[in-house]
Amino acid sequence: MMRSKRLILVVGLGAVLLGGTARALDDPHGATGAISCEQCHIAHNTLGEVLIDATDGLVATLCLSCHTPGGWVGMSKVLSAAEIAVPGSQGTSHAWGVPALSPALGAEAPQSAILLDHLAGDGTITCATCHDPHSNSIPPFLRLDNSTNALCLDCHRQRNTASVRTYTGNDLSHPVGQALAVGAGYHNPPLDVDGNPQPSDGNLTNDLVLVGGAVQCTTCHGVHKTDSDSGTVDGF
Ligand code: HEC
Ligand code: HEC
Ligand code: HEC
Ligand code: HEC
Ligand code: HEC
Repeated sequence: MMRSKRLILVVGLGAVLLGGTARALDDPHGATGAISCEQCHIAHNTLGEVLIDATDGLVATLCLSCHTPGGWVGMSKVLSAAEIAVPGSQGTSHAWGVPALSPALGAEAPQSAILLDHLAGDGTITCATCHDPHSNSIPPFLRLDNSTNALCLDCHRQRNTASVRTYTGNDLSHPVGQALAVGAGYHNPPLDVDGNPQPSDGNLTNDLVLVGGAVQCTTCHGVHKTDSDSGTVDGF
């Protein structure tokens, strides 16, 4: 089922590349930039399902070939597999190259067709599961609008709960979707590391940001370049 669908995509891509049909690409992955289809795709003798230009056929290998120091002229947005998070031990970036289904960490295969269609052929998460390399209509090149954490909650829907995590394992998360209660003795607004209301320490990356007015996953979690140390600056 999945296989035959992929085959159609491959045939479709071949037709697009061979036919030379223009396909809208947003900068910095195209349009007025120097990156063309052929930078990422080759039509013959390639490994992988979508004719991408990566030695092992993996999307992450393609992305990281440019998103590495010196990978592309002046590249500042660099990542490496060494940054993949292993909860409790190491890493500063959301995992890729891992199965989408992770009962231990409360993640399931995506429900949204647009994410599901862009898992790697073996069901693992890759850069292009969350990012669309062809379109920046939802910056930064995202497949789903994450302004209220819809992207995160699609796979992590088990954690989309207003109730407190229990030790019986019924609820996997700190409550989300909740507005901060005013004047209830909580830190409201949240305090910065210097004890004053944020962003008093000048480091915006350690601020707890309310998402659509509520506590959500990205209030506490970053995605890439997040070292869990409130004393340092995170991000690209
Ligand atoms: C920055 C790298 C990059 C560039 C530039 C790029 N592509 Fe892609 N393209 C990809 C990746 C990665 C995939 C696989 C995405 C996935 O996981 O489904 C893909 C998939 C496709 C597909 C399969 C359908 C889909 O959207 O998944 C088609 C067709 C395609 N590309 C055509 C093009 C054409 C035509 C161009 C030039 C106008 C182009 N691409 C430029 C990276 C790129
Ligand atoms: C051919 C080189 C190349 C490849 C391959 C490539 N990128 Fe990029 N990408 C760039 C460049 C150049 C920029 C601009 C970086 C900068 O501003 O320092 C960029 C920027 C981005 C940005 C940030 C956009 C912004 O708003 O600043 C994202 C997200 C991104 N790429 C994701 C991907 C993903 C995901 C893949 C693999 C599917 C990929 N890229 C593959 C060259 C590439
Ligand atoms: C689980 C989903 C997910 C995966 C997997 C993922 N990303 Fe991201 N990425 C995001 C989100 C969400 C953001 C925006 C983060 C933010 O705004 O703080 C982002 C931001 C970025 C940026 C920075 C854009 C900017 O504005 O500076 C780059 C570059 C990038 N991703 C590249 C990659 C590459 C390359 C891979 C694979 C090696 C990858 N991402 C894997 C979700 C993901
Ligand atoms: C495509 C599905 C998918 C999406 C989208 C997704 N996650 Fe995950 N997430 C997973 C899986 C699967 C794991 C388990 C990774 C592993 O096996 O180590 C995970 C692990 C995590 C972890 C534990 C650290 C790690 O990377 O292993 C955190 C924290 C997390 N996700 C937060 C988020 C946030 C925040 C977002 C939104 C920006 C998000 N996730 C989007 C599937 C997803
Ligand atoms: C109030 C802050 C906060 C919120 C909100 C939050 N988390 Fe966490 N999360 C944490 C902390 C702190 C840890 C580390 C816990 C530990 O080390 O035991 C963590 C750990 C995790 C882990 C690693 C596995 C585990 O259970 O220890 C995953 C996966 C995760 N969070 C995903 C999410 C997702 C998805 C959401 C949104 C539904 C979310 N978190 C909301 C603070 C938060």
